[in-house]
Amino acid sequence: MKIAVLKERRPAEARVAASPDTVKRLIALGAEVTVEAGAGEGASITDADYKEAGAKTATDAAKTAKDADIVLKVQRPMSKDEGTDELAAIPDGAILISLLDPLGQPDSVKAYAAKKLTAFSLELIPRITRAQSMDVLSSQSNLAGYKAVLDASEQFGRMFPMMMTAAGRINPAKVFVMGAGVAGLQAIATARRLGGIVSATDVRPVVKEQVESLGASFVMVESDETEGAETSGGYAKEMSDDYKRRQAELVAEHVKSQDIVITTALIPGRPAPKLIDAAMVSSMKRGSVIVDLAVEQGGNVEGNKAGEVVDVDGVTIVGHLNVPSRLATDASQLYARNVLNFLTPLIDAESKSLAIDWQDEIIIGTCLTRDGDIIHAAVGGTPAPVNDGDKDSDANQEGEADG
Ligand code: NAI
Repeated sequence: MKIAVLKERRPAEARVAASPDTVKRLIALGAEVTVEAGAGEGASITDADYKEAGAKTATDAAKTAKDADIVLKVQRPMSKDEGTDELAAIPDGAILISLLDPLGQPDSVKAYAAKKLTAFSLELIPRITRAQSMDVLSSQSNLAGYKAVLDASEQFGRMFPMMMTAAGRINPAKVFVMGAGVAGLQAIATARRLGGIVSATDVRPVVKEQVESLGASFVMVESDETEGAETSGGYAKEMSDDYKRRQAELVAEHVKSQDIVITTALIPGRPAPKLIDAAMVSSMKRGSVIVDLAVEQGGNVEGNKAGEVVDVDGVTIVGHLNVPSRLATDASQLYARNVLNFLTPLIDAESKSLAIDWQDEIIIGTCLTRDGDIIHAAVGGTPAPVNDGDKDSDANQEGEADG
């Protein structure tokens, strides 16, 4: 069993899909591991660290992936038009494990099928207890929520905590977190640790208790509609126009008095909901900061610019792309462990060879292509909820599963 770890080449990507620790564990599972030279650079891992862990290194993507049974990546392989043709470097018929953005990149899924790859898309891991240790969205969002607060503080000309000094009193920063999922809850905890006065909102009423237990206040539109705002997978649904209008009124009133707003709201398979419009931005005091973590899905904030920090009438809107990669060392450690935890049940401990249980809901939920076919409903045309984590739904998968 040969496993290849490719260097990430996309802009703003500093993470790597394996760490020396996971390399050791993969070798213990019976694998031979080859890491592309320089793959760990952005995460402060040297080639020597990988070699010490037992990996070989190779000088380019083609040499690294040559004869590989399994290729590990963080982001989907680049194609010829994008620079290095990483996809061509991956042997036909191999297993590819990565974040693959199948909804955003349906053509690349066709290319995986054409190469007869068995492509597993890690963002589709179902949100079930057994899969928690594999859940890359959670591990990476957690870091993004933390970093968003630090990114806000970097742009903010004031402190977070209240301070009484001989020269006068400094008022605490007021921080509003929109969307209290994994990233939002970490942003709340981080802003509280820094001494801010924190409030938060979400459409899912179940998070009220979690928000309050972190010492923040909860602000939300009370409505019968919120009873059904959560899917069985724990995600938000898109709300009605009436709800959105009432939410906008509430947010407009609240945002005026805030110094920092961190938006994290996402709806799986849809563009991010617009929560802060231009009027709300201009209602904030000069020097206020908004960090839009949803920028890759279109953003929650009007006037954001993906990948940029912009000034709108004295309010800074931060739209960094790939925020987890801004903490590449920790993000890589966690991502690598997620990948290892995903891969381990695919390997038979005795024979030390691949033994994939095609009936397993984690496999069904993540496998996009197999034997030349696209087998996932999310990219195969069946209208099923995507990344919904709905355990009871067979509709997440089309095509046959063999035993
Ligand atoms: P997400 O990244 O899809 O969305 C972020 C947050 O935005 C969510 O809390 C969502 O409700 C909120 N949101 C969506 N539309 C909104 C709107 N219009 N206004 C305000 N807020 C809005 O969600 P994430 O962070 O991935 O977590 C979703 C849920 O999954 C959470 O309940 C989390 O606890 C649960 N979860 C469960 C896991 C497991 O059991 N294995 C693992 C990870 C998360």
